[in-house]
Parts: sequence; structure tokens; C-alpha cells
Amino acid sequence: MRAIPQVTIFYNYSGKTVASAGNPGGHAKIQNNSVVFPDLKSSNVCIPCHAGRGGSGPVITVYKNMGVDFSELTEVRNHDFTGAALLTSKSGYEFAGKEYVSGVGANTGHDTAGLVSGKGPCITCHMNKTVKSDSHTFKPVIHDTAQFTLYTSNRTWAQVYSVSSASPASLKIASVTSQSCNTSGCHINLDNTELNSDKEGYISALAVLNKWIRLVRYVPTNPLLPFNSTSNKARSTTNWTYLGTGTGPDLMGANFNHATLINEPGAYVHNPLYAKRLIYDSIYYLSTSTTNPALNTDGLSNTYQYPAVQQFNVADAIYFLTTTTDRTLETVGATSNVEVRALVTKQQAETAIKWLYGKTKASLDLAPADKLKRPGDI
Ligand code: HEC
Ligand code: HEC
Repeated sequence: MRAIPQVTIFYNYSGKTVASAGNPGGHAKIQNNSVVFPDLKSSNVCIPCHAGRGGSGPVITVYKNMGVDFSELTEVRNHDFTGAALLTSKSGYEFAGKEYVSGVGANTGHDTAGLVSGKGPCITCHMNKTVKSDSHTFKPVIHDTAQFTLYTSNRTWAQVYSVSSASPASLKIASVTSQSCNTSGCHINLDNTELNSDKEGYISALAVLNKWIRLVRYVPTNPLLPFNSTSNKARSTTNWTYLGTGTGPDLMGANFNHATLINEPGAYVHNPLYAKRLIYDSIYYLSTSTTNPALNTDGLSNTYQYPAVQQFNVADAIYFLTTTTDRTLETVGATSNVEVRALVTKQQAETAIKWLYGKTKASLDLAPADKLKRPGDI
């Protein structure tokens, strides 16, 4: 196979922020921000298209270091199908002081598959089919037409995630067709049941993260007063400082991780520990932070802590969503400021906990200390 040189991706970004004397246009621009990818041999060819675009959580850190005002800043967004960036741990917003690439489950061998043969990981998993002419579908699995059930009432995948019903992000797997999975040294009898179980955990954890982001971002200006679609309507979504001064990068980062992963349907296979830690840390940050009282705008001493109940660990933050009456204000269809209960189903909560912690809710109840363990911790 043809040798393809190692790839460098430039994650530049252009957004809008508060105008100042030195920056009258209010431009937030990042140029020549290069990231060198590891050499994936012939699979280097896949990287440029599957590395994301405005991507890479570090863009948010670059903005932070530039002193950009997060109280008015365009959302930093990735692009769909960022498989290469996830496989090589290049795309997430990593929270300060946290570790992402070592721990139990870090070493899948997925990022090094095919380096010896020269094909590299992407080609090894995606193009090794029984019927050779199938290789250029690039699909290691065949998807079902059925979506995972996420919301029981009037919420569909498309409404909640902007993911179309044809996207593999929400689809169950019908069969595993890559011949590379069930080979010696890899898996024995890996089938759709096992992948569906992991995938349900992954997208359920994302459903939980989705709700926590909304509970911080998609609530009225004063969440403690009755929601009112004219006088107490949804907050601005270009302000990222609702948890206090200096918190903007972390809120934007949690939102970035969610937006990237819902459009990276393979992350739970490509780099499971990395995906788990990005989601876990994002939920932890959003659910355990208290709202800065200085943000109160009514001149009284009320603290607009919302949700009113602060959490202390991710497992409880997930379970909180199975009974909460807290609501968010969202645009549903063409109607803005619609009240939506921030509820997830028990099934979602349990599969999310199982995927993130590797343990069931019952065993977590028996060992409260486990609730504070990050994915991959011993
Ligand atoms: C020139 C850019 C480009 C390159 C190079 C590229 N892809 Fe893609 N790939 C895309 C785009 C764009 C899509 C989305 C197509 C769509 O949504 O219809 C896609 C979709 C896919 C899908 C989803 C297919 C489906 O039907 O759901 C897989 C899997 C995939 N690519 C794997 C790979 C692999 C593996 C490589 C390297 C061998 C690769 N791609 C190289 C641009 C590229
Ligand atoms: C260990 C095997 C493995 C490796 C290595 C791997 N993938 Fe994947 N990839 C998968 C599986 C399995 C899925 C399907 C996940 C799903 O849809 O639930 C997937 C999904 C995807 C998707 C999303 C489309 C879809 O059908 O879900 C893209 C795009 C993709 N991979 C690109 C890449 C690229 C680019 C590389 C190399 C940088 C790569 N993959 C390396 C196994 C692998």
C-alpha cells in the first residue's frame, strides 16, 4: 500500500466576542494553531477529513490564555465524525489538573492496530471485510434501522441532539462485519449484543451530560422565578460565565465535549477511556459547581443556584435526573422558550452508570467511595 506522510492539522478559529479599544471589531481569532498527529501509516490518509475542524478542545484553552471575554463568545464547535481525533486523544476539552490517557482500560491497542503491517488502525478495522468489494463502504459494522430508545414522551433524537434519524450516532448495531475484531490477541466472539450494550451506555451518558449542560445554559435569567416567555425567558447562549467569573472555558468545554461526541458515534470503540473521562469530568464540573452569588442581579441576597440541589459526585448527579422536577427552556420545533423537564429514564441512568463506572448502581450504593472514582481509576 502507498506510504502516506504523517499529518499536521491546523485548528484555526474565528469567532465573535466583546469589542474593546484594541479590538474594535470584537474578533476572536486563532491562527496557525498546529497539532501533530501520530504516524498512522497508510491510515494517515483518513486523518485530514476525520480530525474535526474548529475542533480540538485546546482551542478553548487558547482563547482562555488570550484573555478573550467568555461572557460573549461564539460557541467553539467541532465537526462531525471526528474519529481520528478521538482515536488519538486530540479532540477533547480536558479539564485542568485531570489525566486522560492512562488508567484501567487505556490500552486497547486500537490506536496501534496495523502499524506493523503498514495499514494503520483505520484501514485495519474499517476495511477488512469478507467480501472484498465491501471494503470501500468503510463500515466495520452494519447498523440496524432502529434507534436506541432515549425519551419516552414527545422528545425525539432529532429534537434533543440535532442528530438525524439516519445518523449512526443513534442507531443500534445489527452485526459486526469487520474481520479484524475477532482475531487472536483481540476479541473472541465480539458481536452486536456486546457493542450495543456499550453503545447504549455511551449515548446514555451523553444524554445525562446533555441535561446537565441545559440545566446551566438553557434556563431563564432568574431560574428561581416563574418561567415566563416574555419577561423571564431563556438566558443568552453566547454567555458562558453563568457559574461565575473565570468559569467560561470549562462550561464551553463541557458543551464542546458533548457536541463533539454526539457526532462521533465510534468514540466508545475508538478510545473508550478517553470518551468516558471527557463525559465524566464534564458532568462532574457542571453538577458539583455552585453558582457564584455575585451573579445575582436582583440586588437581594438570593443565590440563584440552579439546579437548586448541588451534587457531590457523578453517580448521584445521574440519578438526580431520574426524579427531578427541574425544567429547562428550549426551542422545540419552531417554538422558543418551551419548558422541558430535565428528566432521563431509569434505563438511561443505569446504563450510563454501568458504562462510566464499570459497576452497577447497586454496587455503587454498597461502596460510596466508588462514586468518586473517575473511569479507569483502580
Ligand atoms: C476526503 C475526505 C475523507 C477521507 C480522506 C476519508 N473520509 Fe470518511 N467520510 C468523509 C465524509 C465527508 C463522510 C460523511 C459522508 C456522509 O455523511 O455522507 C465520511 C464518512 C465516513 C464513515 C461513515 C460511513 C457511513 O456510511 O456511515 C466512515 C466509517 C468513514 N468515513 C471512515 C473513513 C476511513 C476509515 C477513512 C480512511 C481509510 C476515511 N473515512 C477517509 C470524508 C473522508
Ligand atoms: C478498533 C477498531 C477501529 C479502529 C482502529 C477505528 N475504528 Fe472507526 N469505528 C469502529 C467501529 C466499530 C465503529 C462503529 C461504531 C458505531 O456506529 O456504533 C466506528 C465508527 C467510525 C465512524 C463513524 C461512522 C459509524 O459508522 O459509526 C467514523 C467516521 C470512523 N469510525 C472513522 C475512523 C477513523 C478515521 C479511524 C482511524 C483514525 C478509525 N475509525 C479507527 C472501529 C474502529
